[in-house]
Amino acid sequence: MSRSELFQHQQLLQSFRVRCLIPDLPEAEALLPLLRQIDANAWYSNFGPLVHRYEEMLGVLTGAQTLGGEAVTLSSGTAALVLGLRALDLPVGSRVLLPAFTFAATLLAVREAGLVPVLGDVDAEDWTLTPDIARALCTRHDIQLVLPVGSLGAALPAEQWDDFVASTGVRVLIDAAAGLGVQRVGRRTPVAYSLHATKPLGIGEGGVFATADATLAERVRRSSNFGFVGGAIAQPGLNAKMSEYAAAVGLVQLDRWPKLHRLRQALWQTYREALAELPGVRLQQLAQAPAMIVARHQAGAAAMQHTFAAAGIETRRWYLPPLHRHPAFLTVEVRGPEGDTRLPVTEALESEALGLPFHTRLGRNDIEAVVATLRAVGA
Ligand SMILES: Cc1ncc(COP(=O)(O)O)c(C=O)c1O
Repeated sequence: MSRSELFQHQQLLQSFRVRCLIPDLPEAEALLPLLRQIDANAWYSNFGPLVHRYEEMLGVLTGAQTLGGEAVTLSSGTAALVLGLRALDLPVGSRVLLPAFTFAATLLAVREAGLVPVLGDVDAEDWTLTPDIARALCTRHDIQLVLPVGSLGAALPAEQWDDFVASTGVRVLIDAAAGLGVQRVGRRTPVAYSLHATKPLGIGEGGVFATADATLAERVRRSSNFGFVGGAIAQPGLNAKMSEYAAAVGLVQLDRWPKLHRLRQALWQTYREALAELPGVRLQQLAQAPAMIVARHQAGAAAMQHTFAAAGIETRRWYLPPLHRHPAFLTVEVRGPEGDTRLPVTEALESEALGLPFHTRLGRNDIEAVVATLRAVGA
């Protein structure tokens, strides 16, 4: 798409009566005190005071600091994945297991790091690639690293992944792109997060790599600044640093986080109660608020999308089509649970799952409209 086509497409989305996702970022007034600090410091990038403070707070939020590690800020979630994978120092060509039900960046990062992707299925209840799924595939296939994804903002069990690493010797990096605030790092399990505007703690563009291993964190930080140590390049890197302006937004977002999180939890609860009674509808099984809500309906995603569009309600096909259907990924190796290339849960999601409106500006009336529309699907 050209730039003007992309712009027109975004404008068309704004015309829906109920939007699927509206980012919730700080207003200009709230940013002003920190922007004035940047003016006074005249320090705009290269590990300035706001980035320093933001990383300290992220270290606490992710649990990395309590475990003796750190959080490193980066320019995007993709950069956090690529630099995190490179810092783990696996031989070029090592094989990485990841779910087919995820955003394309997970796989693109694997390739960018010089590694070879292998696609697996997700669990039928929580729609994530679990330690059990990984264990079964790792005993049958040659895998050096597992890259599970906190699907739609789900928090993965870091301790179970730590046990998986200890018992199999296979490394793990969690892609918790939409999970900052709920996903914690494990002792042996680092985590990459996205700060894209659409994420619950979004700042526009940005990423975080958090780990209990301070040496690993340092390697990622260096590689975000070309690989410099002192005045010389000590390791390969690129420019993936966070600016002071981005950190300013991040600091204000952290102040807002308790309120934002409570709002999302309340919305999730309202949705769960309202949809519990609807025949043919299933949600991801989670205790806490996800970043996005996806519903499965036995009538199929196409029927749902059509009915919602007619009602003026925007929906999205998050993580779909699954990775093995993208033209650029058709040759990627796929390993199903039955020893063939079928991924039953991912493929059921492909035909039945649709992202529903879920953001902090949704009112009770909007949710009632969504529920009423869903009731009409397949009726
Ligand atoms: C699962 C997943 N991984 C990685 C990314 C990449 O994050 P970013 O857009 O910050 O590069 C995303 C972004 O949406 C994502 O959903």
